[in-house]
Amino acid sequence: MSMKGKMGVYLSKIQNESGEFEILQLFERSLDTVHPEKGEIPIKLLGFGEISIVFEILTEELNGLAFKRLPLFESETQVLRHIKAYQDYYSLLTEKVGLIIPEQKSVWVYMNEEHTKIALYCIQKKVPPESVISSKLATITPEELRPIVDLILAELKKVWYYNRENQDQIEIGLDGQISNWAYIESNEGAHVEYLDTSTPLFRRSGEEAMEVALFLKSAPSFLRWMLKSLATEVVDRYYCLRDVLIDLIANFYKEQRPDLIPALIAQINEFISQDLSEMAIKPISEEKVAKYYKHDKFIWKLYLGLRRFDRFLKTKILRQKYDFYLPEKIKR
Ligand SMILES: Nc1ncnc2c1ncn2[C@@H]1O[C@H](COP(=O)(O)OP(=O)(O)O)[C@@H](O)[C@H]1O
Ligand SMILES: [Mg+2]
Repeated sequence: MSMKGKMGVYLSKIQNESGEFEILQLFERSLDTVHPEKGEIPIKLLGFGEISIVFEILTEELNGLAFKRLPLFESETQVLRHIKAYQDYYSLLTEKVGLIIPEQKSVWVYMNEEHTKIALYCIQKKVPPESVISSKLATITPEELRPIVDLILAELKKVWYYNRENQDQIEIGLDGQISNWAYIESNEGAHVEYLDTSTPLFRRSGEEAMEVALFLKSAPSFLRWMLKSLATEVVDRYYCLRDVLIDLIANFYKEQRPDLIPALIAQINEFISQDLSEMAIKPISEEKVAKYYKHDKFIWKLYLGLRRFDRFLKTKILRQKYDFYLPEKIKR
């Protein structure tokens, strides 16, 4: 079942009431993954991760929304499983754990006429730019960071308490790194909101809700077989609170703010010993964080380098379309 939409664009079934996001099909068709801001649809990049680009569409009707593009799927079944996990993750985190997450929905579109590739757009209410912590990191002071981290730690505690006490056979993972949070100040006080729900991390009776292998899609095909074991290792770390905390700290190296690390470690160790004493988590040392970061940096640099090479092969040699956006220069 297929038809052409108003704009003459090849339409998939839109998982959405009214087709209000038909524009995403035009976006998908005109997307240049090297220069995503130069397509026919005016957008502004809000951020990007290893897999997704996050952007807003600069039209009147659609402002105030953040779109996260995941070009990872090959079939309707696959994308529907992901959407289900994405929705369940939202309900678990908000209703059972008590986190605050901007309102969200999702739309998926075919990326080609053969219908063998699907991009999922996770759509979230946009938080005000001044609330996005990642945009403040270059200049943030230890005094400003401390209360933000306190709020994040309190949220992480809720997640792992849920994991400890839950009777539902559900285990929740979270990517606690600083760029995944928004810090919102209002008259009633300040709170943090969690943004990164497009990678739903939870297990039901030990089984991962999301299809982890999907995330290997962003890897060059010549590497995929090798990365299989690595992917499990990478996913496991989001279920271990100590690893999540180490990752949160190590990210300040990546953000070029190692100066913030000693105070951050002290704050987190205090939290571990006082607020999480029942969990008996080993304190975190600066050496451990530095070592972790070195390993992580090596892997991601290598990975990004190989992806660039793969993109070169695909676009310049094979003249194919490359589906992903690769950050040009990440200083690590
Ligand atoms: N709802 C939102 N409003 C505004 N900016 C956002 C929103 N969600 C994400 N971003 C920006 O995009 C970046 C990456 O988003 P995130 O959800 O963490 O995706 P990823 O899975 O790619 O890490 C964030 O660090 C933030 O800068
Ligand atoms: Mg993220």
